[in-house]
Amino acid sequence: MDGQIQIFLNRLSYTAITIASLTLLLLFLQTPETCVPPESPHKPHLKFPKSSCDYSPRELVPIDKKNKRLWSTKFWQKKVNSYIQFFKQIQDLGLLHNNSKVVCVSAGAGHEVMALSDIGVLDVTGVELIDSPPLVSRADPHNLPFFDHVFDLAFSGHLAEALFPSRFASEMERTVRPGGVCLLVVEQCGNDEVREIVGLFRNSRLIRSSNVTLTGLPMTSVIMRTKRSS
Ligand SMILES: *[C@@H]1O[C@H](CO)[C@@H](O)[C@H](O)[C@H]1NC(C)=O
Ligand SMILES: *[C@@H]1O[C@H](CO)[C@@H](O)[C@H](O)[C@H]1NC(C)=O
Repeated sequence: MDGQIQIFLNRLSYTAITIASLTLLLLFLQTPETCVPPESPHKPHLKFPKSSCDYSPRELVPIDKKNKRLWSTKFWQKKVNSYIQFFKQIQDLGLLHNNSKVVCVSAGAGHEVMALSDIGVLDVTGVELIDSPPLVSRADPHNLPFFDHVFDLAFSGHLAEALFPSRFASEMERTVRPGGVCLLVVEQCGNDEVREIVGLFRNSRLIRSSNVTLTGLPMTSVIMRTKRSS
């Protein structure tokens, strides 16, 4: 009796092992259903990756072709033109010249960089956390990869989005030469806020602030000059 039970139990465990092995083998061989075979889609622009294992090649558009497309849109041109009008006012104030070295901090897709180039400024650098070649290179605004005092003018329209505004401000100041210009546009505000903003720039003084319209929005421009001796 005991012997038969032993044989039965042995059989049972062999069966269990076999089933487990087969299941494992099946799992190995089976492609997960979430994996989409790279079939040729009729409308590639409608095809989104369906899962992380969808490794079919994406449509690769060369950067210059992509840029040509982007830069020819009305939306892009309107924004650039708006920046051109704005920077022309800075030129008229005698604070910006064709041979000024300019850095645009948090330059986004680079509208301001293109605007400055268009009005004849020869040396413009744009930086942003995400690069947009050829207009904007990748750099952290809180830690600019430039030596001290290398620019004549630093511009930013994105101080408000900075994680650490005072660090952002001190990096703009650091890279601008003594007697150079720190130029901001911020959401339209009054003199109290302007004073607060200027307070972030410990080594600069306010030249003027004024309400401007930029890219169709009411903004305030804040123009500061860095002190000559630090
Ligand atoms: C600056 O460059 C622009 C565009 O090239 C040109 O039209 C303008 O005359 C230049 N300004 C000066 C002062 O040279
Ligand atoms: C901008 O305009 C607003 C509303 O008219 C005004 O309250 C504010 O003081 C102006 N700011 C500057 C810097 O002139």
